[in-house]
Amino acid sequence: MTAMPAAQVMPEKPFQGVHKLGRDNSFTSSKRLEGKVAIVTGGAKGIGEATVRLFAKHGAKVVVADVEDALGTTLAETLAPSSVTFAHCDVSLEQDIENLINWTVSHFGQLDILVNNAGVLGNQSKNKSIVNFDIDEFDRVMNVNVRGMALGIKHAARVMIPRGIGCIISTASVAGVMGGLGPHAYTASKHAIVGLTKNTACELGRYGIRVNCISPFGVATSMLVNAWRSDEEEEEEVNV
Ligand SMILES: NC(=O)c1ccc[n+]([C@@H]2O[C@H](COP(=O)([O-])OP(=O)(O)OC[C@H]3O[C@@H](n4cnc5c(N)ncnc54)[C@H](O)[C@@H]3O)[C@@H](O)[C@H]2O)c1
Repeated sequence: MTAMPAAQVMPEKPFQGVHKLGRDNSFTSSKRLEGKVAIVTGGAKGIGEATVRLFAKHGAKVVVADVEDALGTTLAETLAPSSVTFAHCDVSLEQDIENLINWTVSHFGQLDILVNNAGVLGNQSKNKSIVNFDIDEFDRVMNVNVRGMALGIKHAARVMIPRGIGCIISTASVAGVMGGLGPHAYTASKHAIVGLTKNTACELGRYGIRVNCISPFGVATSMLVNAWRSDEEEEEEVNV
């Protein structure tokens, strides 16, 4: 077998448009999202909050959608009340999602980006056996993590298709790629998000809408820290 010419493997010049990371980890171009309107679900804390802060810094108008009203309102007020707004939204309820998308379009004129980020880990620790599986808890996790993301994609697509542009990003997880890293319900839900992303990307790509998901490993948010604590407590109970 002949080897691929070196030039095709490693371009001699860097691709145009690749940005260098600055000292503060922001891209050198300061306002990459100027003129864009974004919704971040689960935006009141954790990964969602960091996303809201970054998007606002880059000039986007952002709607923080969450069930944590106090946290979300304070975040919006702290950043820029004219461009960051809080909206109460339980992503598992279709009416809430529909209202959120409609309100965003009527208030800001358009929707460019949906970050489908709201998620729950569930009460079952990663050590809990499938033999003790709690099906009600499974439904609760699937309702937020999968139903919520499917509803987000549905209603974002409804307003993005006529414009022929848009970007939908869902937060999956490394638990959506590998087994053994999280509780069963959470792992099933994150695998489902990867599948839903692939399928909707095939459909919506035809309309100029990009659909992707990101799959973070451990990020020390309250979700992960609380899970570590409950795992440790369970181990202590087993050891006494
Ligand atoms: N932290 C990690 O290590 C990690 C790793 C991989 C993926 N993730 C995923 O990242 C996303 C954010 O997680 P996080 O770590 O920032 O957790 P977090 O608990 O800090 O934040 C989750 C946010 O979602 C909101 N939320 C929960 N249920 C909701 C609902 N029904 N409607 C609207 N909002 C709701 C919460 O109020 C909270 O603000 C989740 O989807 C999570 O599964 C997290």
